Amino acid sequence: MTPREMLRALPVLAHQMPSFDPAAAPAEPAALFADWLGEAVAAGVDEPHAMTLSTVDADGAPDARVLILKDLDAAGWHFATTSTSAKGRQLAANPRVALSFHWREQGRQVRVRGTARPADPAVSRQDFLARPEGSRIATLAGRQSAVLADRAELDRELADIRARLAADPGLVTEAHTVYTVVPVSVEFWQADRDRRHVRLRYRRTDGGWERELLWP
Ligand SMILES: Cc1cc2nc3c(=O)[nH]c(=O)nc-3n(C[C@H](O)[C@H](O)[C@H](O)COP(=O)(O)O)c2cc1C
Repeated sequence: MTPREMLRALPVLAHQMPSFDPAAAPAEPAALFADWLGEAVAAGVDEPHAMTLSTVDADGAPDARVLILKDLDAAGWHFATTSTSAKGRQLAANPRVALSFHWREQGRQVRVRGTARPADPAVSRQDFLARPEGSRIATLAGRQSAVLADRAELDRELADIRARLAADPGLVTEAHTVYTVVPVSVEFWQADRDRRHVRLRYRRTDGGWERELLWP
């Protein structure tokens, strides 16, 4: 079978999916996101907190990668990464981002557009210290996205950091940064087996949020 034949034989949005009534949606997108996230967790969606973060580099070229959503509150959507990584440098030069979630078991997609703001260093430090040891070791290396000469270099560096951390368990790297994506628009997309997909977009206005339906 060729890739083309394989791809075209795959079903898409053919399974049972929940319904979504946009007329009953709350006034705030964060409230609807929290509802959908809860439903995704209850439905057993795998890693519903995995999302794609899209950024642009200094030349305006887009870049994207998967990250974990760490929190959601009135300020926005939070994630954590290394400020010295490729994405960290891109964010410093241009903080405009998009987040996308895909909960395939439910035929749902959420798209967030906004600006990523670094948290107060004390917040990032606290977040770092609350991470499991393995994650702290990886972040302390501080070389995310740099070119790696070979796997042995990584093993040497990790062993070195493990020893440093054993001697000083409170070791922190300032590069670990929590970012908050402050949204300007959030779109909720619910698939429909008859292709009457529902799209509801929230757009930030001076006084709050405006809701509008979009053609699928
Ligand atoms: C499921 C999953 C979760 C991930 N979570 C994170 C994360 O929370 N923070 C992070 O910095 N990288 C995370 N990564 C790795 C990133 O996708 C990426 O490889 C890394 O951050 C380097 O990206 P950059 O070169 O664009 O800076 C995750 C990858 C996957 C597949």
